[in-house]
Parts: sequence; C-alpha cells; structure tokens
Amino acid sequence: EWNMEDVLQEQIKHVRSMVGPDEHVICGLSGGVDSTVAAMLVHKAIGDRLHCLFVDNGLLRYQERERVMSSFRNELHLPVTCIDASENFLGKLKGVKDPERKRKIIGEEFIRVFEGFAPKVGEEVGRNPSFLVQGTLYPDVIESCPPPGSGRNHSHTIKSHHNVGGLPERMNLKLIEPLKLLFKDEVRQLGKFLNVPESFLKRHPFPGPGLAVRVLGDVTEGNALNILREVDEIFIQAIKDAGLYDSIWQAFAVFLPVRTVGVQGDQRTHANAVVLRAITSEDGMTADWYYFDHKFLIDVVSKICNQVRGVNRVCQDITSKPPATVEWE
Ligand code: XMP
Repeated sequence: EWNMEDVLQEQIKHVRSMVGPDEHVICGLSGGVDSTVAAMLVHKAIGDRLHCLFVDNGLLRYQERERVMSSFRNELHLPVTCIDASENFLGKLKGVKDPERKRKIIGEEFIRVFEGFAPKVGEEVGRNPSFLVQGTLYPDVIESCPPPGSGRNHSHTIKSHHNVGGLPERMNLKLIEPLKLLFKDEVRQLGKFLNVPESFLKRHPFPGPGLAVRVLGDVTEGNALNILREVDEIFIQAIKDAGLYDSIWQAFAVFLPVRTVGVQGDQRTHANAVVLRAITSEDGMTADWYYFDHKFLIDVVSKICNQVRGVNRVCQDITSKPPATVEWE
C-alpha cells in the first residue's frame, strides 16, 4: 500500500514540472470523487491558475446540477463555472442507439465545451489555458487501453470510457491525469488527506456519460430521461433512509425502452419497465449484486409505481460482474 503523503508530493512535483509558471489549467468537475480529488491536488500544485467548470450535459440525475454546484460553493469553497450545454449534447444524441457511439459523441462534446471554456478563461487571465485535468483512474486505463503485454489489445477493449478511450484524438488541450495509477479506495484515502469532505469521498461512482448509458437506446426518446431521474431518486433516497448507502458501491436505475402491460387502478396500462441495480465491489473491475431485504424492495417498488407516471414494472438485476458489466451499456 502506498503512502498518500508520498503520492501527493510526487504528483504535485509532476504537475509543476508539466505546467510552466505562467501557464493555466482547466478542470471539468463532475461532483464525484475522482475529479474533485484531482482538482484539489492540482490546486495545491498551482493555486489560482486552475480554473474549474461543471458541465450540465442534460444527462445528470435528479436536481444534480443544483446540488453539486451548492456543494462546490459551500463545502469545497472552490470557484466553479457552470456551463449549460444540455441542448448540444442531447441534440447530438438524437436517434443514436449504439452505446459506443453515444460515449464517443459525449466525449467529443465534453472536449468542445472545454475548448470553448479555455479562451474565456484566457480573456480573464491574459493567456489561454493549455492543459486539462482528468480524474482517470488505473482501472479506467486497464479496461480502456490495456497495457502492452497484458495480453489484451484494442479489439478486446471492454468499453471506451469517455475519460480515456472516448476522447477525440485531436484535442487542443494537453492532459494532466494525476490519479492514473490509483484505485478508487486509494483516491478516497488521498482525498481524505487533502481534506476533501466526506460527502464527496463517499459518493457512489457515476459514469462520465451519465444517464446516457442508463437509458438503453435513444436517450432523447419520449420522457425517458425524466422517468429515469425520478425512479433513480426514489431508489437512492430509500437506500440512504435505510442507512445502506455506504455499504453499497453503486446503486442506480436503468430505463428499458420496452413497454409492458400492467393494471393500475382499474386501468390496463402499457408503460415502461425499469431495472434497479445495486452492487458491492472493491474497484469496479468485478462486482457482486447487493442483497436487499424483502421489505425494502416491497416499499421501494410500491413507491416507484405509485409516484412515477410511465412505469408499471420494476425489475431487479441480480447479475454479478462478470458475466455482466456494472452498467447496462
Ligand atoms: P462497467 O459497466 O464497465 O463499469 O462494468 C465499471 C465502472 O465504470 C463506470 N463506467 C464508466 N465510467 N465512463 C466513465 O467515466 C464510462 O463510459 C463508463 N462506463 C462505465 C461504471 O459506472 C462502473 O463504476
């Protein structure tokens, strides 16, 4: 196990050696552990020459933008610019069904937003930032671009996570990836060491492409995103109320683009099915499904069907990784 003090000092040194004394850096924050810890580290290395932004890509969870922006302000005391690019993202995703295409489009769109942000910062500070901080972790590196000699090559790439393989090859910003050699639990330790509040460190991982990989198929179809947000919020809130949040690695809902027949009141309905998935894991590379008690499931399913219009069937995913992956896409 590594000593976090050493990791921190080494990475600070590395960042300072990459970024010249007058150069500026931008960092996209998601509100999650990785980008927050990466930003705090780079901030320690170069101070106010770091400029953070939060992108609303239209694929965020229930009230996430408001919640995250207020946490940055009140808990992290980090100045963050919020950019609403939801129309750009959703416009580009219209009609797109293939998961890898979705990731690629989202990765590219993120970069366009970052590249648009850099000159805005430049106007203020007199010099355009030329670096971008990414909170890439070791598992992202091995799953997206297996290291040489690992016996895996690109054709066996599992998923092009947007913050690694999904980035466009041509990008005007140089990458700084200070967490590239760390696993999630090490990032959490490092964050603790950097005084990142628990509320950030304990948040479940959330994929860069957001709800786009949790609405199967075309994310812009009908009211899918909003239905998913409501279901997800009920599920997560129930998990928090039951005191289970910290025992679970990730919990979320998935929207299925299929309609099933149901009966609600005296009415026959033809509405969507959703899936609940909760897992435990050490590093996201393998995972076990989480066993909820009967009463918890009964309550959560009844809340979902009573409160969310458009859903008449709730399934639970009881597949581990492998053979399944964590996400459905
Ligand atoms: P999978 O589905 O590959 O997920 O078993 C492993 C972990 O990675 C997250 N994940 C992603 N994170 N961009 C990300 O930043 C992605 O495209 C992506 N796909 C999956 C997933 O939530 C889990 O924590």
